[in-house]
Amino acid sequence: MIKLAPSILSADYNSLGMQLEAVTKGGADYVHLDVMDGHFVPNLSMGFPIIQSLRKQSGLVFDVHLMVENPKEFIARFAQAGADIITFHVESCADADEVYEIISMIKATGKKAGLALRPDTALATIFEFVPHVDMVLIMSVMPGFGGQDFIANSLDKARELREYVDGPGYKLDIQMDGGINFANVRDVLEAGVNVVVMGSAIFGHSNIHAATKKIKGIFNEYRKTKTKIVIFANGEEDNLDFFAQIVQSAGYIICCDGGANFAAKLGLVPNMIVGDFDSLDTCVKAMYEIEDVTFAKFPVEKNITDLELAVDMALKKSPDEILILGGYGGRIDHFLGIFKH
Ligand code: DX5
Ligand code: ZN
Repeated sequence: MIKLAPSILSADYNSLGMQLEAVTKGGADYVHLDVMDGHFVPNLSMGFPIIQSLRKQSGLVFDVHLMVENPKEFIARFAQAGADIITFHVESCADADEVYEIISMIKATGKKAGLALRPDTALATIFEFVPHVDMVLIMSVMPGFGGQDFIANSLDKARELREYVDGPGYKLDIQMDGGINFANVRDVLEAGVNVVVMGSAIFGHSNIHAATKKIKGIFNEYRKTKTKIVIFANGEEDNLDFFAQIVQSAGYIICCDGGANFAAKLGLVPNMIVGDFDSLDTCVKAMYEIEDVTFAKFPVEKNITDLELAVDMALKKSPDEILILGGYGGRIDHFLGIFKH
């Protein structure tokens, strides 16, 4: 799920309550609260009172970004003030032990722990903490001020982190903050970011509500371009309800030859059937021939299985996820699992 976190650093504090309401009605998921101490960054911003008073008004997730020296001094108080996520900078810690200590302190308050890194900090610095945090914040400007230009190589960092996280299947959010606008937000999503902070692009807009809605619209459009492909490998399976539930979110269904017999039992019309069609039931074949199903014949000269062919076809569509469902004994042994790339 892609989340939008408007940063109120660029809001008009004279009408903060109303502006927060405008982003909320526009579909904001979080409110991003930048806390600066004039030491870690050369600027001052907000502290506990603002967060406390906004908390009374808002049901949004409060995403507190600490840009302060010695963050551990303040964890308990930000938790009490109403933070839901507390993110601190790896550069504000003396060593790895301190990072672990602060993560534990945040978790002990029952809040989510985020770890941020500046554009001039190597991504590898935070790898060891990935299994322990709920979110990593990649700064795409030097922290301290809103309205700065986006640092383009932050996208490489996000891509690298996304790979690092998805490979072993860690569950954590990747947030990006700084210089994100209408023009570059798609690139940010494409790089694997799923929590997007935007300050001046939203609060500097003449219609804050419309700007928020527009960004959420871009998120929705982007989601639609990402497809989950489900492949039915050969095989029988008793657990039809479970499979029926899984395929509900599929954007595209490929059956491997006899896998189509199985799809037919679920009442599904696949988008494509691959194989030499020797194990495809004649009635099922006839039924699917009158539907809009693509039949991709197994290239006999190539020494590959129909499942390999199906995976090949699926990869050509650049999905964000391929899920292979298979029963007993088929060719599932080649490729069992979920592919993410
Ligand atoms: C910068 C802050 C950001 C800032 C982003 O140090 O951490 O959250 O508000 O503002 P824009 O989107 O204007 O760069
Ligand atoms: Zn921030």
